[in-house]
Amino acid sequence: MNTANQSIKPVTTKINNKGHIEIGGCDTVELAEKYGTPLYVYDETTIRTIANQYKDAFKSYPKVSMLYASKAFMTKAIVRILDEEGFGFDLVSGGEIYTAHTAGADMKKCLFNGNNKSYDELEMAVNLGIGLISVDNFLELALLDNAAKTANKKTDILLRVTPGIECHTHEYIQTGHLDSKFGFDLTQVDEAVELITEEYQNLNLVGLHAHIGSQIFETQIYYDEVDVLLKEMGRIKEKFDINLTHINLGGGLGIKYTENDCPPSVNDIADKILTSIKDNAAKYGIEEPEIHIEPGRSIIGTSGVTLYTVGSSKQVPKGRKYVAVDGGMADNPRPSLYQAVYSAEVANKAKQKPKEKVTIAGRFCESGDILINEITLPVLEEGDILCFYNTGAYGYSMSSNYNRVLKPAAVLVNNSQSDIIINRESYEHLVSLDVVPDRLKKV
Ligand code: LLP
Repeated sequence: MNTANQSIKPVTTKINNKGHIEIGGCDTVELAEKYGTPLYVYDETTIRTIANQYKDAFKSYPKVSMLYASKAFMTKAIVRILDEEGFGFDLVSGGEIYTAHTAGADMKKCLFNGNNKSYDELEMAVNLGIGLISVDNFLELALLDNAAKTANKKTDILLRVTPGIECHTHEYIQTGHLDSKFGFDLTQVDEAVELITEEYQNLNLVGLHAHIGSQIFETQIYYDEVDVLLKEMGRIKEKFDINLTHINLGGGLGIKYTENDCPPSVNDIADKILTSIKDNAAKYGIEEPEIHIEPGRSIIGTSGVTLYTVGSSKQVPKGRKYVAVDGGMADNPRPSLYQAVYSAEVANKAKQKPKEKVTIAGRFCESGDILINEITLPVLEEGDILCFYNTGAYGYSMSSNYNRVLKPAAVLVNNSQSDIIINRESYEHLVSLDVVPDRLKKV
């Protein structure tokens, strides 16, 4: 069975009788008119579909928790949807903790993760009753023990480890290989366990956490990851007589940005994970653990598209034709950061045949602000609406105000209804944190 991460477009995408792209029953050209562009559009059905596909894929295993990796895209409305679907949240900052808490997430189902959490953030996590904290390093063990002691609590923790598994994704988004800034090297685990058992009375070690990378297309590495973690649990049991009960496998499942991408289905990786548990838990003398999965991109990526309006264009004599849109690297830094490739269509010319090869340029003051390097589309004219697929993950969440351009709005579409979930920034908002010292004030 195909799962939603294997589709380029949101699952509700259609061409309507006006020849426009329709998502969630909403005409995207009308959305662009109503809310302006650039506009992030999120399809609720796609989010709920993939969330349920994750639950189904793991339903044969009794002890599994799904956490959404909030860093991919987090707003209060998204928290509400995934909370309703029974997901917890992988949180990596005070800001993400605050968003989850104020949107009514079940904090017991949340995990706090990150390689340099501050004392204040750890204190916040402890006080708000976050279920698990994935401790990344020796300093954090000490800080967290202190925060837990001050709150008179005992905190359940995982140890984040680097399992030494390399995946074939962009170097910047690999995380499980040995030379990584994240987590304890496996050779440092014993020292950490000794500190927890002998010194840090307010920490309760329940398991191990790893994340091998992002936009992963291989399935075997999930089998290997489980194998490495179970082996380590078996070793800890034998050496320290401690029964660890949880493994968190991180996220990473890839999505289909273009026709050339062939990510596995959610079922494919679930099979590998569950098979590895069956094959290896008993082998290492441990009970089958509770597993946590924390996907980000594969939950939210496919549900989101970005609408842009076409503006100026430039035909380089004997060279490329550049067509500029009203957004770019500030609302989607992924092409310039990772050479990420996207698919796009013309929302108001969805029935027209591709005719002209163009390069889609952003509006920001940098030559590298190119959103798509050569794509063949119907002939583009000023005012056309371009629909970029698969921008739901790591677009808004990594957006900036470069060039003091306002951050776009985001709408959620469902059953022909559209609702704002993030307001478009205003110029007042943009300058609201600026302060002019008295001595510089214009009199
Ligand atoms: N868990 C941990 C510990 C992580 O570090 C990450 C992502 C995830 C889960 C979720 O991974 P996902 O399912 O989304 O692949 N900005 C980059 C991606 C960075 C991913 C960082 N960690 C991009 O735009 O490709």
